[in-house]
Amino acid sequence: MTDRELLNLAREAAANAYCPYSRFPVGAALECTNGRIFTGCNVENMALGSTMCAERIAIYKAVSEGITDFHRLAIYGEGDEYCMPCGACRQVMSEFSSDLEVLCARSTGGYVSYKLSDLLPHSFKLGFFK
Ligand code: THU
Repeated sequence: MTDRELLNLAREAAANAYCPYSRFPVGAALECTNGRIFTGCNVENMALGSTMCAERIAIYKAVSEGITDFHRLAIYGEGDEYCMPCGACRQVMSEFSSDLEVLCARSTGGYVSYKLSDLLPHSFKLGFFK
């Protein structure tokens, strides 16, 4: 699958975003090392802290199906700026893959690509956990 195809899946996933409070739809498409794709969208809640980001929904869908090896994650945000993953999502990504490729798109076209290790250097790790 090309970057563009994965980004298109992220954009399609944003159509299901439940975001009446921010009115900022986000979609994510996660490509696993085995080739499977999981998508997600942001799901907001009146109790704002219960809101869940698109990226984490896609990752948690994969993990809940027993898959924890990821290759690429495409993120699409319905705005003029490239949609970068929030800090919490970066930490969740780093739980599973330090060399994840993260593609960040904006609605006006184009995308930027990063390695997770560049987006979250020196990530938190449990000191005693091997
Ligand atoms: N959001 C995401 O889905 N992913 C991110 O990485 C950052 C923010 C969502 C959460 C909320 O529904 C909306 O964007 C505005 O913060």
